[in-house]
Amino acid sequence: MTAILDVRKLDTRFAAPDGEVHAVNDVSFHIDPGESVGVVGESGSGKTQIFLSIMGLLAKNGRVGGSVRYRGKEILGLPPRELNRIRGVTMSMIFQDPMTSLNPYLRISRQMTEVLVEHKGMHEAGARRRSIELLDRVGIPSAKARFDLYPHEFSGGMRQRVMIAMALLCEPDLLIADEPTTALDVTIQAQILELMADLKRDFGTAIIMITHDLGVVAGLCDRVMVMYAGRVVETGSVRDIFYRPQHPYTLGLLRSMPRIDKHGATQLTAIPGQPPNLQALPPGCVYQERCPFAFERCQADVPALRSIAAGEGPGKERAKACHLERLEEEVPA
Ligand SMILES: Nc1ncnc2c1ncn2[C@@H]1O[C@H](COP(=O)(O)OP(=O)(O)OP(=O)(O)O)[C@@H](O)[C@H]1O
Ligand SMILES: [Mg+2]
Repeated sequence: MTAILDVRKLDTRFAAPDGEVHAVNDVSFHIDPGESVGVVGESGSGKTQIFLSIMGLLAKNGRVGGSVRYRGKEILGLPPRELNRIRGVTMSMIFQDPMTSLNPYLRISRQMTEVLVEHKGMHEAGARRRSIELLDRVGIPSAKARFDLYPHEFSGGMRQRVMIAMALLCEPDLLIADEPTTALDVTIQAQILELMADLKRDFGTAIIMITHDLGVVAGLCDRVMVMYAGRVVETGSVRDIFYRPQHPYTLGLLRSMPRIDKHGATQLTAIPGQPPNLQALPPGCVYQERCPFAFERCQADVPALRSIAAGEGPGKERAKACHLERLEEEVPA
């Protein structure tokens, strides 16, 4: 099976006056058709920059190395005209900030129908009908009446939904969702996640879900990729990652999730310390300074992402970037 997306050795650097920022470091992964993968990690770990690099949307001071194949074809460094045939059409991204993808000066109707007319060759009337249908589907009340409004006339949560509807216009086979629900209230969050689950089921859309919320991952994803300081430190099925993490950072992340213990008290153990400075990464493992299991080798050698004993769940693939042979710690229930 050809992967929809096959990323190899992706490196993203930003030029800065006080030293280069190593935002994404040697990242490799793939997404199969219809699969959904969660990308988790602390703020600043490089989640967003991976996908902006892939989409050719990096800030001007950024440069990217490595390889990104979309259905077998190299797309890194393609000219914008060619990228535009993929971007927003077969591969769509929902951004953390809705205003990055909505044009403030154009009515929502115009922004939506234009895409369908241009990429799907639809007529204006059909494009209007289809767009309103989608706005309905993502839960915009009285979509028809609001269709001709400007983006600023929608509330933040509504704008987020408009953006999701826009991302779905061309029925992409890969949807990259960057924290699509963090700004929304809980009931709307649940509706949007349900919508994504429907898409996955009904259209076989592959989904990449970038999120801080491990609960979201558990509900929607088949596989998880854990990021730390611009590196993938562990990947595996949701079950394996949640119940049998093999990287100390994954374990720390799970322990820092709020839980209710048997006495009804909330337990939460934050990982002490801070992520490293991306302008001065230490030699060796990026997690060494916060890792309770670090030993000598961790200061000298960068641990490569390597396969580890097969676990449970789909694909059974598991890998971690850690010198520890096995992590025997229990994850609190
Ligand atoms: N244009 C830029 N110039 C310099 N550094 C940048 C630039 N854009 C991003 N960075 C840095 O790249 C690193 C990775 O950022 P990224 O946005 O990918 O983090 P993230 O994991 O998505 O975080 P969050 O969860 O907060 O969205 C951060 O340290 C950020 O400061
Ligand atoms: Mg981000």
